[in-house]
Amino acid sequence: MTDDARIPVGLSLGVHRDAALARAAEHVAHAWREFDTARDTETSPTPELLALLRQPLPEGPADILATLDSAAEVLDASLAQARPRFFAFIGSSGLEIGALADLLAHTYDTNLAVDARAATQLEWQTVGWLAAFLGFPAQAGTFTSGGTISNMTALASAREAAVPGARHRGLAGVRPTMYCSREAHHSITRAAEMLGIGGAQVRGIDIDDGRRMRPDLLRAALAEDLAEGCTPIAIVATAGTTLTGAVDPLYELADIAEEFGVWLHIDGAYGIPAAATAGAAHLFAGLERADSVTIDCHKWMFVPKACSAVLVRDTRALTSTFSHDEAYMPHEGGQFNAVDITLEYSRPFRALKLWLAFAVHGAAAVRGAIARNREQAELLYDLASARPALEVLAHRPQLSIVPVRHRNRGCTDIDAHNAALCSALQRDGRVYVSPAIIDGTTWLRPCFTNFRTADDDVRVLVAVIEELGAQCDTLH
Ligand SMILES: Cc1ncc(COP(=O)(O)O)c(C=O)c1O
Repeated sequence: MTDDARIPVGLSLGVHRDAALARAAEHVAHAWREFDTARDTETSPTPELLALLRQPLPEGPADILATLDSAAEVLDASLAQARPRFFAFIGSSGLEIGALADLLAHTYDTNLAVDARAATQLEWQTVGWLAAFLGFPAQAGTFTSGGTISNMTALASAREAAVPGARHRGLAGVRPTMYCSREAHHSITRAAEMLGIGGAQVRGIDIDDGRRMRPDLLRAALAEDLAEGCTPIAIVATAGTTLTGAVDPLYELADIAEEFGVWLHIDGAYGIPAAATAGAAHLFAGLERADSVTIDCHKWMFVPKACSAVLVRDTRALTSTFSHDEAYMPHEGGQFNAVDITLEYSRPFRALKLWLAFAVHGAAAVRGAIARNREQAELLYDLASARPALEVLAHRPQLSIVPVRHRNRGCTDIDAHNAALCSALQRDGRVYVSPAIIDGTTWLRPCFTNFRTADDDVRVLVAVIEELGAQCDTLH
């Protein structure tokens, strides 16, 4: 027995379980209440907290409740993407039902490597729901840790389709190439590097005025490479670029993929959920013709990280790439295991959070939240366009990213000014934005992917940018 009833013995929380769960629930409820409205400043770690974070490995037990409080304090002093005025990168929202799903899933510690019975059925059902939500005719799909791994999974399948047997023999004697917009996410190049295609073999196709891949240049690049004896592995269309939210012309790219007999993958990690909304569906026409699609549910489907999915038109695309027989992973009744369609072995039950989100809120509520984020992007574009000190891109936002630049009278270096302004905004803490370089110039790049963000938060964003932007002399 220990002296203090709150100190655990062994590795079970034992008699302290209920108290620990109640304390954790208090912290969760506090965080959710806080996220309902924005706070006026970011907190930073106190000296006491920093001292705690320098402590060496503890050998013995500690007070559970106090230690849970410390963990909550660490979280409170960290950047939280779930806050309504976090506009940086492509944030996630920590959807409440999704957070509860994670607690449940991790409690059971279900492993989706093999047939986990009901959990496996639920994963397949969720793949079906996601496909129906997007309007993509998926025969199969799998949940992964993120867009990077979903893209890698899809492109491994594309490689096997273009060069059957490549997984065994490699790519000796083949000159593989891949095609994407020059503003595609770096995970495409990374996949080419990892799959033996070679990062230098990725053709970054130039873009049009709306920053979309130009089909005429894609066709020319394919024709030239084929004439040189190259083997195209895939065309990767981006449905929502990370920089500005541009959606490549999917229908025209699908025509070209068909004409040349090349795999069409859509990297919709960020933007493809908008395909489910009436206002944006037209941007995604042709999506149903792709061979594979990446969607990050931890971005614009609001669930907590990490939850991405890759969907394929034909199950064999995945099985021919990933299936294998190992003595420690037998196949029961001729069925494939989850590891026969994924890159990962041990795999947490990621599908549960999306399943619960759909089941509890319904698809219409998810669509509604995506549509509201798009309206907020439109609102920011309109507000910024009307302000003399603010500059926006010539074209309206296609999805929910709205690059904005501040111009100050008398300020000669606008790029240095906006870089300094971005740092000042992050220090100030009322809003959080990240910078971006567009055509060599520095911009603030707000992105709306949070169901908690309200229109007033957009107005505050503009006001704070103008307020801090006006202090040119002290910024740089
Ligand atoms: C278009 C696109 N693809 C892929 C990724 C990578 O996704 P993840 O960070 O989930 O690996 C991102 C991330 O922002 C993205 O915007």
